[in-house]
Amino acid sequence: MAFVTMGPMLKRAQAARYGIAAFNMIDYNSVRSIIEGAAELDAPIIVQVSVKTIKHWGYKAIATWVRMLADDVDVPVALHLDHCSDADVIRRCIDAGWSSVMFDGSSLPFAENKACSEEIYRMTEQAGVGLEAEIGAIGGVEDDKFVAEDAAILANYDECLAFVKDMPNLAVFAPAIGTAHGFYKGQPKIAYDLLERITQSISVPIALHGGTGLSQEQFDRCIAGGCAKVNISTMHKHRFIEGFIGVRAEKPKLEEPLPFIVGQYDAMKKDVVDMIRIFGSAGKAAHAAGA
Ligand code: 13P
Repeated sequence: MAFVTMGPMLKRAQAARYGIAAFNMIDYNSVRSIIEGAAELDAPIIVQVSVKTIKHWGYKAIATWVRMLADDVDVPVALHLDHCSDADVIRRCIDAGWSSVMFDGSSLPFAENKACSEEIYRMTEQAGVGLEAEIGAIGGVEDDKFVAEDAAILANYDECLAFVKDMPNLAVFAPAIGTAHGFYKGQPKIAYDLLERITQSISVPIALHGGTGLSQEQFDRCIAGGCAKVNISTMHKHRFIEGFIGVRAEKPKLEEPLPFIVGQYDAMKKDVVDMIRIFGSAGKAAHAAGA
């Protein structure tokens, strides 16, 4: 069951209205917390990676960690590249063994975004790898990308339909629906009606970006509206840091590094487990895998 492409499992998740968690990994310990947290709840999982993180660790190390840990569990695990506008990085991820990639052309004019996304689509179809593509402008900071609050733009409904028309096998589609990356300063204005209209009109599962800070009710409504992939990054990064600081505060004289790593692992895994429960994917491993 272990290592899979995410498209088929997202379709099954959308049909049954649960969300599959996609956590942005940080290091090997973080990958362990994500995959083992999912395995503990018998849930499908997506390990996703930002370009900056790949540049730090290298393609081979990340692919090896994820595939090796996926081999040891009985839940479907996908390895996904998060927001990327560089075709060369996408190519290298595919060659290194990623099972899906995201092309983010959302800062381009619509026609150009569509044309570039379709070009990457042809590459991923040939390689047997899933593709995520985005339109509109999701606010906040993700990796090296910053979209100011007043520059965030909801996806246009007609453009959504035109965008996916020539990519029938798109694994997941990310229209901006009012969520944002990073911590929310106020209440996000989520365009549930737009989400529902898009879901009713196209057969591609939807990705929910900006998961950190949303409430159970907001997740429930987005998942009920068709979001099958639910992204969490900022919260995971914070647990990584807090896990370390927590051990330091408790045992200021400790010189042995392993308890710090265990503290980080426990903090990150607790969140993974909590989020999977919220998204309704606990116990859904076999369903998501189509077994
Ligand atoms: P958060 O950082 O808000 O959790 O968003 C993650 C995300 O959408 C990654 O693409």
